Amino acid sequence: MHRLAVAPSVLSADFSDMGGAVRLIESSGADWVHLDVMDGRFVPNLTFGPKMAADLRSATRLPFDVHLMTLEPENLIPSFIQAGVEWITFHVEATVHAHRHLDSIKKAGLRAGISIVPSTPLSTIEELLPFVDLVLVMTVNPGFGGQSLIPSCLEKVRRLAALRSETGQGYRISVDGGINKETAPAAVSAGADVLVIGSAFFGSQSPASEVAGIKALGARNDRV
Ligand code: DX5
Ligand code: ZN
Repeated sequence: MHRLAVAPSVLSADFSDMGGAVRLIESSGADWVHLDVMDGRFVPNLTFGPKMAADLRSATRLPFDVHLMTLEPENLIPSFIQAGVEWITFHVEATVHAHRHLDSIKKAGLRAGISIVPSTPLSTIEELLPFVDLVLVMTVNPGFGGQSLIPSCLEKVRRLAALRSETGQGYRISVDGGINKETAPAAVSAGADVLVIGSAFFGSQSPASEVAGIKALGARNDRV
């Protein structure tokens, strides 16, 4: 069991002040900075590329958790490695040679993650599980912040957590989409140990209390 990590997503931040957004994430007590990269093809929205990650690097010491929602992520992986990020996760639906790309991320000394959208079955990534550091289970259809969590996606989290304890594999399980104080307890009890929060963080009057509320769930879990 990993310590619960909270990863606010800058997708819901004011893009005219990304440095401020990252500093707010650090001062809130959160653990990672989640960077949602969208290409307008894999998902119907566009965000930013590796230069944003490189430019933000000096604004915080927190790990950068890059979530590539781009077709053929292999085209961008080298630039994100160059930008100095710690985690790179891409979608199994977006590429053919997922194993090769996981390998290239890990060979560069980073942590590698694989992600699935709500309509993709867990079996699609089963062969990859021995090679990943993180599995990101999308709990909304990717592309936009502020959507409602699809509860049936948590069943995949439950099965992943069970598989992890059966096999003794060490990957983290991240949930992304519609996570807030109301939905986080179900995600954590299903087995998630990384919680991505976008609108619940940046839309809050007190982002630090959102983070503390979610981290308290982890503390409760640790006692069980
Ligand atoms: C959605 C992104 C998420 C998004 C989550 O495509 O991958 O990381 O920022 O935002 P909320 O928490 O608002 O659902
Ligand atoms: Zn994301």
